Parts: sequence; structure tokens; C-alpha cells
Amino acid sequence: MTIAIDVHLPADQAAAMEQDVRRGLAATPKELSPKYFYDERGSRLFEDITELEEYYPTRRERQILEERSAEIVAAAGNPATLIELGSGSASKTRHLLDAMRDAGSLRTYVPVDSSEEITRETASALVEEYPGLDVHGLVCDFEAHLERTPTTSEAGPRLIAFLGGTIGNLYPDERAAFLCRIASLLDVDDHLLLGTDLVKDVGRLELAYDDPAGVTAEFNKNVLNVLNRELSGDFDLDAFAHVARFDLEHEWIDIGLHSLVDQDVHLGALDLTTRFAAGEMMRTEISTKFTRPRLEESYAGTGLSMAHWFTDPAEDYALSLARLA
Ligand code: SAH
Ligand code: AVI
Repeated sequence: MTIAIDVHLPADQAAAMEQDVRRGLAATPKELSPKYFYDERGSRLFEDITELEEYYPTRRERQILEERSAEIVAAAGNPATLIELGSGSASKTRHLLDAMRDAGSLRTYVPVDSSEEITRETASALVEEYPGLDVHGLVCDFEAHLERTPTTSEAGPRLIAFLGGTIGNLYPDERAAFLCRIASLLDVDDHLLLGTDLVKDVGRLELAYDDPAGVTAEFNKNVLNVLNRELSGDFDLDAFAHVARFDLEHEWIDIGLHSLVDQDVHLGALDLTTRFAAGEMMRTEISTKFTRPRLEESYAGTGLSMAHWFTDPAEDYALSLARLA
């Protein structure tokens, strides 16, 4: 058993964040990237969201993995390496690792996440839980540094898992580019396992992103804490309200922070003062909901094609297994 964690240069990450936030605040409407939600507190708040009655995606994905992991692993050719993008606490990933162990193929697990704290915790827990497992974690932005993931498949096929519906947080053009880059990493025997939330009743969708206990609101506003800390900002969290609405045209939840008053916010690290008008909405995330045809369309032209489709009985959520087209 071995454990190694590679951290991509923090100075590069800080410079990328400065550039990204400057661009987002200059845009109309203003926008922040959802990748900044996940400092240590944000990762904990996301874990709290996954336990909410209203937030069904995690439960549904877990149900599919509990019931179908053996089938998924067999269909993926009994992989030796599991690479997981946006791994977080990897709580549902255990079902895949169990199935790989039971098939006798499990060798290496590669969690890839921008949050160092949660990646270290996950890696330590997994080497304890799976004797003999090599864990090689990567702390990086998976959009910028995907090519840092291991490219050799000497020990056997690789399975890249992108769970939780995180692909839905990318815009369609980013999603297509990301799938193309995943395709460029795959060999003929490798597969991608992709988790996607599905279109459903608008009331249920909006409740999942605006829970009455206010956990999602706290998660959303935490991005302002991150900017205050990392960029010496003076955002007043009480001067913004959490908003989550389903956009029927794009079939995504539009999540943002609505300024409650006219206000100026200063970010010392950017030497920037930005004005928010009362009622102005700053987007912090989209969360796209899919149908099977839309997902097949998303794979088209990326070099990948869908080989299997697994859903829960209520068809709330889907996992698709894709390989080189
Ligand atoms: N896969 C887990 C966690 C989903 S939350 C689950 O299904 O429950 C999204 C995870 O992706 C977080 O852990 C966050 O830190 C990570 N993440 C989001 N954007 C990222 C990026 N650009 N690069 C690397 N990790 C990212
Ligand atoms: C990580 N991602 C898939 C979550 C989602 O459902 O889009 C993030 C989230 N945002 C608000 N609640 C959960």
C-alpha cells in the first residue's frame, strides 16, 4: 500500500483565481466560477447538502452504484485503476472500489480534486479501508490540468469516474471541450463513468437547490468568504440573498447571489472596487439537468460514445459508461 499526493503549484492557482474573478466581476451579468465554493468549509457544506432530504442526486447515484457496481465494473473490463475527477469525500466511490476488489482487478485509486484538505482525508481513509491499494492523489484544477492524470495502463484498463453530476456545472462548450480531453486520455480498453442528474418536475428541482434549512444558501454564500480571504475582499454576506431557479430553455438550475442593496465591494488583492445595484444577480453556478438524448448529443463529436446507461427506478439520475467512439 502506498499513498502519494501531488499538489499543483498553489502560486499558479492563486494567479488563475485572480484573473478569473477579475474577468467574472467585469462581465454583465457578473459571474463567479463554482470551483471557488470548495474551500475546507465549502467541502463540508457540500457534504451537508448531500444529506438533505430535498437533495436527491447523491442518494439516487448511491442507489445505482450500490445495485449496479459489479455490472459497471464488468462492463468496463475489470479496471485496475480508478481515476476520479472531483472526488471530494468519495463516499459513493467505495461501491466501485468494492466491485473492483471483488473482481480481483483493483490496484490504484487516483482522486483528483482542487480541495487539498478533502483529498488528503479521502486518500488516508481509503488506504486504511483497502489493504494493498495504491492511492495517488492529485490536487489541481481538473479543467486546467487534466493531462496530469496517469496515462499508463500497464496494470490493466482504467476507469475515469466523474460522479455527482459535476459535469452539469460546466457550460455546454466547456463540457464538450472537457469530454474531448478525457477522450484524448483514454486507450481503447479504458472507460468513462459519468454521473448526470436528469430533467424532472421543476418544484422538486428548485427545492433541491433552495432547501428550507438554508444549507445550500450557506454553501452558495461561502464563495464570498473565499473571495474575502483569498483576495482581501470586503463582501458583506448579509447584503446578498441566495437564488436558485430552473431555466426551462437551457434546462439548468441558475444559481446566484442577489444583491439586496446598492453597494460597493472592494477586493484588495485585485485593487478593484466593483458596484452592485440593488436587485442585481451575480451567477455563481449552473447545474444542468439531462435527458438521455441530450447526453448522447453531448458525447457526439467528442471522440466518446455511450456504451451503457444505468438509472434508478424513478429515473431521477443516470450513470453512463462511455468509451472511445
Ligand atoms: N464527487 C463527489 C463530490 C462532488 S462536489 C460527489 O459526487 O459527492 C464537486 C467536487 O469537485 C468538489 O470536491 C470540488 O472540490 C471538486 N471540484 C469542483 N471544481 C473543480 C475543478 N475545477 N477542479 C478540481 N476539482 C473541482
Ligand atoms: C457538485 N455539483 C454537482 C452540485 C450540483 O448539484 O450541481 C453542487 C451543488 N450546488 C448546489 N447544491 C449542490
